[in-house]
Amino acid sequence: MNLKIKTQLPGPKSEIIIKKIKKLNIAYSDPYPYVHSKKGDGCYFKDIDGNWFLDFASQIASNPLGYNNRELNKVVKSYKKHPIKYAGQDFNVKEHADLLEELLTIVPKNLDKAFLVNSGAEAVENCIKLAMRRQKKAKFGISFQNDFHGRTLGALSYTHSKPIHKQNFFSLQNKTLPFSEDAIEKLRKIIKQDGAQKIAFVLMEAIQGEGGYNVAPEKLVKGIRKITKSYNIPFIIDEVQSGMGRTGKWWAHQHFNITPDIMSSAKALQVGAAIASKKFSVESGSISSTWGGGHILDMAVGLKTIEIIKKRKLLSNITRRGYSLKKGLNDLNLENVRGKGLMLAFDLADKGIRNNFIIESLKHGLVLLGCGEKGIRIIPPYIVSKNEIDQALGIIEVVNKKINESGFKHTGKICNYLTCGESHT
Ligand SMILES: Cc1ncc(COP(=O)(O)O)c(C=O)c1O
Repeated sequence: MNLKIKTQLPGPKSEIIIKKIKKLNIAYSDPYPYVHSKKGDGCYFKDIDGNWFLDFASQIASNPLGYNNRELNKVVKSYKKHPIKYAGQDFNVKEHADLLEELLTIVPKNLDKAFLVNSGAEAVENCIKLAMRRQKKAKFGISFQNDFHGRTLGALSYTHSKPIHKQNFFSLQNKTLPFSEDAIEKLRKIIKQDGAQKIAFVLMEAIQGEGGYNVAPEKLVKGIRKITKSYNIPFIIDEVQSGMGRTGKWWAHQHFNITPDIMSSAKALQVGAAIASKKFSVESGSISSTWGGGHILDMAVGLKTIEIIKKRKLLSNITRRGYSLKKGLNDLNLENVRGKGLMLAFDLADKGIRNNFIIESLKHGLVLLGCGEKGIRIIPPYIVSKNEIDQALGIIEVVNKKINESGFKHTGKICNYLTCGESHT
């Protein structure tokens, strides 16, 4: 498909809406310079000013099957009647049972129960609570440098990717390990000093998301799993961004041949989920949520998403396309190309150049996202084709040349959006 950017960005209709959001949203956070229309097809979407874009950001990994997937549209159309949101932990809907059942077919065998909530942060929050409930003498939890686990205060306490996320917010008790093999020795020291029973959990992203798309060293993941297992410390893996097939396996931790005790999911699943072995079951009333397990449209779309990934064998498409995309990025001599499947990234020389890159790509119709200090995420929908990959690589090549020309500078309205790609999670 031809990418047509026929207006300045944002276009006039988009600008009116964005201005309204800016005026009224108390936490306005540099959104992208366009407003989505309902039109789109696979990896492409149209904004309300008639511009067509190629989406290699996938709504921050939460739109795995692209725009206007026919089967998902059919599910959406089948829910015409109000309400579509029930108080799902207190009143029962069939979609709750169906999603739990399907979700539990794709997780490691030792994880046999799940709890559905509204977001990724809430999923992590509830994973943490399941662990704390069991570790009765625990005083603190442990996570890793550059981790991102969400913005609710519990999950945020264990988030260490950017200072802006945490400034002035009180934290739960936490200790931080480096995201390197050194963490193994450091964890041993903490256990020796404080005692294993003082540790409520160790929480990790096997592939860090917002913090930079950093793939954990295999020795680190295996070493931490070994220690946590031998001391009976719950090991939580956060799969909110990396899970649901994004890396070519259902869960990123499966690349390391380990299984966690507890795991979070959200984004591509459409709802949040804390997933654990039944030994972490808690008594009635100790954790809950009004809408969790009750947004029937989200649950039905999440269920169908899993079914489509299975039926269309998309995990192998992700692996195959991921391989050619990564090779293409390496062939362009981009810096520090990394990642697995369709969860890829590369670096620019600094943050300013990275932001320039994202904006210049947008002007060519390609949507990309930042991560870490100076990284760019490449996360297309799972259905991405060879042609679409070639089209994106073509734009990346042109943009890379352009932003490195001496005296390169953006001009016009888009200058108000220069940091749009950097602060998202
Ligand atoms: C690894 C990880 N955990 C948790 C979250 C929080 O998810 P949400 O923004 O849905 O609350 C995110 C969001 O990007 C994430 O990437």
